[in-house]
Amino acid sequence: MNDIQILGKIPLYGEMAAQGSKNAVLPMMAASLLHRGTTTLLNVPCIQDVDCMVGILRKLGAKVYREGREMQIDASCLDSCEISLDYVQKMRSSIMVLGPLVARLGQAVTHYPGGCSIGKRPVDYHVKLLRDLGITVKEEGDRIEAKADHCHGCELRLCFPSVGATENAVMAAAGAEGETVIRNCAREPEIVELCRFLECMGIETKGAGTDTICLRGQKSKNDPVYRVCGDRIAAGTYLAAAAVTGGHIRITDVPVYYMEATLRALRACGCQIMTENDCIHLSAPRNLTAIPYLETEVYPGFPTDMQSVLLTVLCCGIGESRLRETIFEGRFETAAELLRMGADITVKDNCAVVKGGAGLSGSTVRARDLRGGAALIVAGLAAKGWTVVKDCGHVDRGYEDIADNLRKLGAEVRRVGTKTKEESRAVG
Ligand code: UD1
Repeated sequence: MNDIQILGKIPLYGEMAAQGSKNAVLPMMAASLLHRGTTTLLNVPCIQDVDCMVGILRKLGAKVYREGREMQIDASCLDSCEISLDYVQKMRSSIMVLGPLVARLGQAVTHYPGGCSIGKRPVDYHVKLLRDLGITVKEEGDRIEAKADHCHGCELRLCFPSVGATENAVMAAAGAEGETVIRNCAREPEIVELCRFLECMGIETKGAGTDTICLRGQKSKNDPVYRVCGDRIAAGTYLAAAAVTGGHIRITDVPVYYMEATLRALRACGCQIMTENDCIHLSAPRNLTAIPYLETEVYPGFPTDMQSVLLTVLCCGIGESRLRETIFEGRFETAAELLRMGADITVKDNCAVVKGGAGLSGSTVRARDLRGGAALIVAGLAAKGWTVVKDCGHVDRGYEDIADNLRKLGAEVRRVGTKTKEESRAVG
């Protein structure tokens, strides 16, 4: 059921564990194709993007077994080099299968997924890096075909530190001969996690988390077993939910060290936050306050994936805030939905000016994208009366049981709407 109905103004209290990280697990699943054996991943989140990646791997011939949050991928034998079009359309990050697949099989085919609601999101950086590695990449219409007879390590440079292009290059280079140095690469935590995972396979890497990564391509030696870290964006979303309801929550299993910018922003809004090991406690103030200016940046700056959720928080903060989006050109669609709930937001040149504190009121709104949908659910928790967030299928791509988790923290939240075909089949 794709709609979520929320009764606002109920403070959230309690404790929860963060789910495994979506953006960390997807590249690891893609990288499992480099290994002619079995990969075991632990703490895998039960979300739709993971289901989609499972579909891609199975269509390529890998055997994937799942039990709860444990997943085994046996990629000893692959029988196709084509990433199924069905999945390409469902998930943009299918592009990150291209690098490891061509490294493994010498050939890979995918399709260009086109634009999406947060921006155009081209794949030109991915294609350029693969070409620089000596891979022939042909683009015909939407079709992208990559062929590598001999892939040699070399020096690569990104013109912008794209997360996905860095991951693709790291995985393709792991299958190339000799050493590759990737400069101006992304420093996001998910890249550090990917490199640690490759090390478990026996592939040596240096410099992950800095702007230069070096790795020597070689055959994977070991069957890796890796525990996926907690999801810093999902954890940040629940903290924001507690903040806007005047609640107090504790989240465990969180990569606290990856969340500094988010915690700084929530503290700037007046929240009291304490951290210890892998736990975060948040106590909301009586009244949230505005943030005069904040912009999204590449890591370690404030993450673009938290922008929509913070926008909701700022609608509740007394005073005027400015929030600039610098990574994705179309990420303010959620602002239009928040206006329906009584928010005062003006967006100009990718900067939102928010006059907050007057209160939100329940309404029917539509999730346009994954993080925007989560931001609307958070807005529903803050608003007076009932809110219906339609099309929460977007949210289920990345959040495990969001309605259920919020209910356990005391919220009045329920799934409504007609069942999807898949849900009807599962029941019938
Ligand atoms: C990843 C994350 C996403 C996050 C984003 C930025 C995953 C599965 N997704 O997405 O949640 O919001 O990082 O932290 O990990 N660009 C190009 N050409 C390219 C590639 C990117 O122009 O070939 C542009 C994009 O349109 C965007 C910017 O570069 O404007 C950053 O994108 P990128 O870092 O690549 O994001 P993703 O890897 O797609």
